[in-house]
Amino acid sequence: MSPEPAGRPSLALLARGLDDEPGAQRLAAELALPLATTGADPGACLEFDIVLIVQGPTLALQQTGRVAPGGRSRRDRGGRGSATGALPGPVSIDFGADGMRHRRRSGHNELLGKAVGVSARRRPRILDATAGLGRDSFVLADMGCEVILCEREPVIAAMLRQGLDAALASGDDWLLPSVRRMQLFAGDARTMSSPQSGAVDVIYLDPMFPSRDKSAAVKKEMALFQRLLDPDAAPGDAEALLHWALAQEVARIVVKRPVRASFLAEQKPSHSVAGKAVRFDVYVRRALG
Ligand SMILES: C[S@@+](CC[C@H](N)C(=O)[O-])C[C@H]1O[C@@H](n2cnc3c(N)ncnc32)[C@H](O)[C@@H]1O
Repeated sequence: MSPEPAGRPSLALLARGLDDEPGAQRLAAELALPLATTGADPGACLEFDIVLIVQGPTLALQQTGRVAPGGRSRRDRGGRGSATGALPGPVSIDFGADGMRHRRRSGHNELLGKAVGVSARRRPRILDATAGLGRDSFVLADMGCEVILCEREPVIAAMLRQGLDAALASGDDWLLPSVRRMQLFAGDARTMSSPQSGAVDVIYLDPMFPSRDKSAAVKKEMALFQRLLDPDAAPGDAEALLHWALAQEVARIVVKRPVRASFLAEQKPSHSVAGKAVRFDVYVRRALG
């Protein structure tokens, strides 16, 4: 296997048990990633930085013991036995989780809905050009919007596919109507064919920015996510995405920003919808239908 480019963490598929091996092998081939030893303890899996764990139908991204917080591995520190307990928890996509149900009622959703133009009589069609873990997309779909989720990082896109499939298979009446409104496009939003992208009213952007959540657990989760994605983001990447979005035939573009951040690409929005920690900058091009 060729060496990883500098800065890019090394990743492998890890089958939790023997039954998970076929699924892990299939995904490893699809994502062009190596396989770690089946059943290995991620904490002791020191050949890789991050493992994508396949366990039954679920996928979870887990930091290994290779680089512990503070920069030294468990081995460097003389660690023994199972090291996973000392690591940040795994990241997976479960649209039916309590956290997602809680999100439904949070004030953040009202702001997001207002920013994209949801009203009692209107459910705009959204292109979420930076889908990530799909949380904002799910919130929008839960409000009744049709959402196309674009995710260019193949590992995250595979997790989204799995999360959507699991939700569709769940038979959960709360989840199904929302998840049926979500359609995944695994690739760079800018490469979508125009018939697909032309069928939307709003482009939504949530470019990566430093963790803003107060919960330590979420901070750790986002740190892993950022570690995976940061090396891919070229300087000016988010700015270029906004310029692309502004050139599309849509009614509005909405950009999520930390509440005190400057405008992305120094582009002044038509208006902003601000909460305590997050702000949505809205670029209105025409009235929503
Ligand atoms: C901060 S995360 C988005 C989090 C998301 N709003 C959520 O609720 O989970 C940004 C994501 O956008 C993706 N991304 C950035 N630029 C992209 C592009 N041009 N096309 C598709 N995905 C992109 C990154 O890979 C990353 O997963």
